[in-house]
Amino acid sequence: MNRISILGISISLSVGIGLLFPASGGAADRDASLYVGVKVCGMCHKKEDSGNQLASWQKGPHSKTFERLGTPEAKAAAAKLGIADPQKSAKCLKCHSTAYNWTEQVATEKIQPEDGVTCESCHGPGKKYMPKSVMEDRKKCIENGMVYPASKSCELCHNDQNPTWKADRYTTKDGKKVGFDFEQAYEKIKHPNPKVKH
Ligand code: HEC
Ligand code: HEC
Ligand code: HEC
Ligand code: HEC
Repeated sequence: MNRISILGISISLSVGIGLLFPASGGAADRDASLYVGVKVCGMCHKKEDSGNQLASWQKGPHSKTFERLGTPEAKAAAAKLGIADPQKSAKCLKCHSTAYNWTEQVATEKIQPEDGVTCESCHGPGKKYMPKSVMEDRKKCIENGMVYPASKSCELCHNDQNPTWKADRYTTKDGKKVGFDFEQAYEKIKHPNPKVKH
């Protein structure tokens, strides 16, 4: 089941979107035993002067992806697929929750489905890269499993396997309609550290 669904995503990415499945940082590479959960990341990433990434995430769409599955809109989309309760269905939670890690079962107890799409869905499981001495050195972060740049992660979820996918959700600068546009989507969720030069 998992293999098929992972394959389903990779097919939709390479054929449907034309993006090559990333060599590392893809869903299949993520070791669920290395997740630590948003509370742990948030302990160090909640200072205002370094960008308070925890607060940005809490205000943004990814902290509410579980709640979204409780809406009438979600129930209607699920009903078409014969799913009664999207908040209990792995077919929805695989992308709406880090806890499922893109599989059709709970992959880690460290993260509750209710937490939604947490830091580690984008940045990769953090157990090995979260010590301060590693975190301050990007090369070491990557060696210890950080997905960098995190833009590699977006299309593992933002793709046409989502039953509410809209192929014309975004309009690019040159007027093309697309289902996902990294630049514009990133503007809505970015959480930079003002102390770091980019
Ligand atoms: C012990 C404290 C600590 C913990 C826990 C921690 N971080 Fe960090 N992190 C830092 C520090 C310090 C930096 C360096 C600069 C800064 O403050 O952003 C950093 C940098 C980063 C960067 C930028 C890396 C780069 O090279 O641009 C990312 C992304 C990041 N952390 C994500 C996370 C995630 C996700 C978690 C949870 C899995 C996490 N951090 C847990 C302290 C921590
Ligand atoms: C392949 C990953 C994926 C799967 C599987 C998935 N979703 Fe989503 N869902 C997303 C993404 C990503 C968004 C954000 C909108 C976008 O960019 O397409 C979203 C948004 C939504 C929304 C908000 C409406 C909207 O268009 O923004 C609803 C409702 C929803 N999903 C319901 C469901 C239900 C119900 C299921 C299970 C039957 C499900 N999703 C399965 C990825 C997924
Ligand atoms: C683990 C799956 C997952 C990943 C990875 C992911 N998203 Fe999402 N994203 C979602 C879901 C699910 C929603 C729906 C939230 C809602 O509307 O309730 C969403 C919603 C959004 C929205 C609000 C809807 C819209 O299109 O305006 C933006 C913006 C967004 N994501 C940007 C990004 C960006 C940028 C990345 C990569 C850096 C990313 N996402 C990675 C699952 C994901
Ligand atoms: C939807 C995907 C997504 C989620 C969820 C997410 N991030 Fe990020 N984050 C990004 C992207 C994209 C960047 C830009 C750098 C890169 O591409 O890796 C980034 C950058 C950062 C940076 C570096 C800031 C800088 O200016 O150097 C830190 C620190 C960080 N994130 C921490 C977190 C923490 C902590 C959480 C959870 C509370 C989190 N992120 C949640 C996608 C995400």
